[in-house]
Amino acid sequence: MDLSIIEEDLKAVDASFEEYLSSRVPLIAKIGKHILTSGGKRIRPAILLLSSRLNGYTGERAIRMASIIEFIHTATLLHDDVVDNADIRRGNPAANTLWGSEASVLVGDFLFSKSFFLMVEDGDLRVLRILAEATTELAEGEILELVKTGDLRITRKEYMDLITSKTAVLISAASRIGAVLGNATDEIENAMKEYGLHIGIAFQLVDDCLDYTATNESLGKTIGTDLREGKVTLPLILSMERAAPEERNRVRDIVLSDEIVQGEFEEVQRIIEKYDGIDATLDLARRHVEQAKEHLGRLPVKAERETLEDLADYIVQRDR
Ligand code: FPP
Ligand code: MG
Repeated sequence: MDLSIIEEDLKAVDASFEEYLSSRVPLIAKIGKHILTSGGKRIRPAILLLSSRLNGYTGERAIRMASIIEFIHTATLLHDDVVDNADIRRGNPAANTLWGSEASVLVGDFLFSKSFFLMVEDGDLRVLRILAEATTELAEGEILELVKTGDLRITRKEYMDLITSKTAVLISAASRIGAVLGNATDEIENAMKEYGLHIGIAFQLVDDCLDYTATNESLGKTIGTDLREGKVTLPLILSMERAAPEERNRVRDIVLSDEIVQGEFEEVQRIIEKYDGIDATLDLARRHVEQAKEHLGRLPVKAERETLEDLADYIVQRDR
């Protein structure tokens, strides 16, 4: 993925983290740096920066907003790894395994609060509203996922709602804020919002496939975590719709068991393979990528638009 046109801005975003992490409590910077310098893909900041340039804004506020959105994302990852009992993130030990769940949750709280402080300093109520709405919905999505844990009856629609809230809404906010910074028309702001929503959905669909198909090394996370945590994602939902009753019962027993051993994970992988659960999910992801790109059709043909199109394609081609 070639992000060279925003390379300088992305460096400025990374450079700002140190300042924003400074606190009289050294543990904050320690944990914050651990996760923020661990090789994240910076997808949200990249989208925000590209969207603002595409919409004619090139000032400093875009860099600040891009940092804020990565701070919010990082806060949610710190919380999410506690909720998911994850041990590895981005190829490194997850913060909760190094410093414990309490520290991870609390530093997540710091990052989240700091983000809103920085937004208030910026003083644009339009941006505050977008991010306040997005984070409320994101938390809602994560709670919905918790409620649906271990529920093999979860429908496609419920699943799509859930991933839209927990993942797509924040990516959509990044894209939309770029339009707001550029004082775009409502129509364009909406197109940017939709672009982000569709690539966000595609992103999570691919994430849920990789949890079955990747290797721990390439992914930098432990694969099979979704199944072990009882998260029923689209590759499994689609396969269950097509599977024989005895296969469904077998999967149900595995999902509901206290501990899932490697052989059981592989059994579920084989059922998903048999019923094309991965290919069907990736097909859907590709359709969302196409829809995302269609929404960019209203925007000027510029290098930033091309990079946003490439970024949409990258979402479904990636292996991490
Ligand atoms: C990753 O999903 C998690 C999210 C996209 C959202 C997490 C949100 C919260 C924990 C609640 C809100 C917190 C705040 C501070 C507002 P995943 O587990 O499918 O992805 P993964 O495989 O990368 O862990
Ligand atoms: Mg997780």
